[in-house]
Amino acid sequence: MVDESSVPWYEDDKLWEIMEPVMFTEARIAFTPNEVDAIKSLCKIAPDEAVLDLCCGVGRHSLELARRGHKVIGVDRTKLYLEKARKAAAEENLSIEFVLDDMRTFYRKKTFDIVLSMFTSFSYFDDHEEQMLVLRNIYASLRPGGRFIFESMGKEILARIFLRQSWSEWPHGFMLEEREAIENWSKMHNVWTFIERDGTVHRWNVIHWIYSGAEIKEMLESIGFSDVKIFGALDGRAYDNEAERLVVVATK
Ligand SMILES: C[S@@+](CC[C@H](N)C(=O)[O-])C[C@H]1O[C@@H](n2cnc3c(N)ncnc32)[C@H](O)[C@@H]1O
Repeated sequence: MVDESSVPWYEDDKLWEIMEPVMFTEARIAFTPNEVDAIKSLCKIAPDEAVLDLCCGVGRHSLELARRGHKVIGVDRTKLYLEKARKAAAEENLSIEFVLDDMRTFYRKKTFDIVLSMFTSFSYFDDHEEQMLVLRNIYASLRPGGRFIFESMGKEILARIFLRQSWSEWPHGFMLEEREAIENWSKMHNVWTFIERDGTVHRWNVIHWIYSGAEIKEMLESIGFSDVKIFGALDGRAYDNEAERLVVVATK
């Protein structure tokens, strides 16, 4: 029997539970200090600047920034992840506020100098206006001069490396990912099938926006962001035909 969800994929707790070991691998967690070095260098974060880690997941960037003395607030909709993040912070005696909220509703007016949206955490909502609402919330939460950094997979890169389907093996099961560009390459339709080792099968239709460098720049500028810079990885390389990720730094 296939367990198919009736809520949008990003609101399905089962998806985030099953995907936790897939997304937050030991290698990815271990690489986080390098990502934070790169973020600090791209955004030029001063020691006393306050950071919002939007869609913080299990808090890997929040924890690393707090270890380095930054004031951080992490926000995420997944209770399971926030519980893990809070536990990890308590074990290291780090003071981080972790807030259970939705990126469409969360904002704190002119409170942060930096907002992070790391590892493809923006692009989920079917309606373009909901996407713009998230960007408006980020803009409202930033102090003047504050920077927003966004890291994802760009449309141009996806078109270059596109794979119709792929399988992967994990300690708790096997994953099939089937992909199709839809709505004239506006969105990616992924069908994720996860087969647990006891034979339980889960299937999700994961549909999300894919943005080109030019599209995301235009969206940010239409909200009021300036000095919108596009990079091809967190190391600050050009967003060209060899880009690996779409990284955007925009200033309020
Ligand atoms: C791919 S993970 C990235 C986590 C983290 N930024 C990182 O780099 O490790 C995406 C995260 O977005 C969160 N998320 C999904 N929909 C959300 C929403 N509407 N509001 C807030 N968080 C959401 C998920 O719970 C998940 O933790």
